[in-house]
Amino acid sequence: MCGIFGCVLKDGKVAPLIHGGLKRLEYRGYDSVGFATIDSGVLHVRKDSGKIDDVVDRLQMTEMPGSIGVGHTRWATHGAPMMVNAHPHTDCEGRVAVVHNGVIENFLELKEELINKGHNFASRTDTEVIAHLIEEEMRGDIELGEAVLKSLRHLEGSYAVAVISPSDPGRVYCARNESPLVVGVSEQGTFCASDVPAMLPYTNRVVYLRNGEFATLGREGFEIKRIQDGSVVEREIKEVTWTLEMAEKQGYSHFMLKEIYEQPMTLRNALRLQRQYLDLLTAFLDRGKELFLIAAGTSHYACVAASYMFSKLARLTTYPVVSSEFVEQYGSSVGIDSVVLSVSQSGETYDTLKAIDHARMRAATVLGVTNTVGSTLTRVSRAYIVQQSGPEIGVAATKTFTAQLMVLSQLALRLARMRGKISQDEVDDLEEKMQMIPDFVDKVLGMHGEGIAKLVQKYSGERLFVYLGRGISAATALEGRLKLLELTYVPSLAYPAGESKHGPISVVEEGVPVVFICPRGETRKDIVGSIMEMKARGARIVSVCEEGDVDIIGLSDDVVEMPAGIPEMLSPIPYIVPLQLFAYHLAVQKGLDPDMPRNLAKSVTVP
Ligand code: F6R
Repeated sequence: MCGIFGCVLKDGKVAPLIHGGLKRLEYRGYDSVGFATIDSGVLHVRKDSGKIDDVVDRLQMTEMPGSIGVGHTRWATHGAPMMVNAHPHTDCEGRVAVVHNGVIENFLELKEELINKGHNFASRTDTEVIAHLIEEEMRGDIELGEAVLKSLRHLEGSYAVAVISPSDPGRVYCARNESPLVVGVSEQGTFCASDVPAMLPYTNRVVYLRNGEFATLGREGFEIKRIQDGSVVEREIKEVTWTLEMAEKQGYSHFMLKEIYEQPMTLRNALRLQRQYLDLLTAFLDRGKELFLIAAGTSHYACVAASYMFSKLARLTTYPVVSSEFVEQYGSSVGIDSVVLSVSQSGETYDTLKAIDHARMRAATVLGVTNTVGSTLTRVSRAYIVQQSGPEIGVAATKTFTAQLMVLSQLALRLARMRGKISQDEVDDLEEKMQMIPDFVDKVLGMHGEGIAKLVQKYSGERLFVYLGRGISAATALEGRLKLLELTYVPSLAYPAGESKHGPISVVEEGVPVVFICPRGETRKDIVGSIMEMKARGARIVSVCEEGDVDIIGLSDDVVEMPAGIPEMLSPIPYIVPLQLFAYHLAVQKGLDPDMPRNLAKSVTVP
């Protein structure tokens, strides 16, 4: 996810501080880097794609003059990772420089309006509209700060921004809405950054901007206002006591835990996708006689869940296929009438790309869902969607799994609406509930963040776990099991619950923990039978079920209660969260590093 650093120094050159600040944001992931500084009434901008140190050395960026500036590490969301799309972005005259983290949802409309007013755009980014909006406002002969404030009121979506211009050479203007931004003060000057570590060597006295707030940074300090009405906000300065390493993880002990807790935010991002892309993919999906969902690992389990959505809601015959098996299993039958939707966080998984190559050769329509702009998947897909989760550093996928599901749910619901195979009421209701999923996940984290660690203590000595679910919850069980395997190395099984009696039940004996995923819905009554079967063999039942579900609770040894009102079709998103936490805490309890499980790589680019 992009990193922002801005700074107004009382004295001295700002560029080396920007360099240091961005280096400390490197952990967020990036593909390009850029600085803008102001000196003697001139705006200097240098930027390119590549590693921070390489770009900074090559363009001699630490030599840039001036004591005020902004810097940016870009993690592409709109437009490929190349120089022209790197930040800072400027207006037509090169008088306003903007760095941005987030996604401007209405940028296409704004861009069109600005082009009609004569603005020329250099990049394919959403960010550039902000620079031109400010330029446009300044044509009304108002000061920079006022122009920034007015421009922000046009934006829909998420942003943290920082702006400088020689027309106001002693200030950085910055603001946030749903993307993080911290302001810091010291004897040396005033700072803003996406995250505390960037400024930690210069100051530990910080203020966290809240959504809808705008700050003016000057040499002597800062002022905060509300974007909506310009009213001044008083906020106490806090002293951060974190070490640099703690600060990078925002106080969480591991990146994985931080990423689990980021899910309400990443799910909201996944709900803010550009409508045009969703429409385009839905139109392609509608043309298919059959749909293959191709992916590996966790992404495959997102596809298993999604296959229920496409089949049940949109009545499109859907096959979730493990990438490495696709050519062998369906290579001869895939063809011009097939749609292949591949899902890959990295967009670089070898097996997935190989399967797609084959499908393209057979004239199938290839679509993609990925978290990585500019990845191979985006280049070979006819159309694709970027899920906007930001970089995932923990090797085990967590936030990217739930965001993949959020994207796939939206596609399935759109297709269902288009095809009219289920009632409009049902689609409306599911869409309404889908908007509530980030809040449900927030609630789950609040309810179980601590409790799961205690539950883990009871089960820390177990040598086998079994995960079972019916219908779409079979996918939740499979993904919950995968998290446990990856992180704790404890052998574990996962099956659709109805299948367990055809073999797996033989491993169940007195005391074996069996985890049941049982949201309320069509499969709820059958799962009771499955629980009874396991209980009869002495299993210890751990249920993840809706709060107040007395039947299930009565049959269980331990229960993780989930908020009421989550539709079964969307349940894998919130229901996986306690299972992620369970695997995480068990790994920690065993003294293992959850961020780097043995033998695993984040991106598997080999056969
Ligand atoms: C599991 C995990 C892996 C990946 C798999 C596919 O936690 O991270 O199983 O899901 O390697 O990776 P992508 O989605 O990048 O294709």
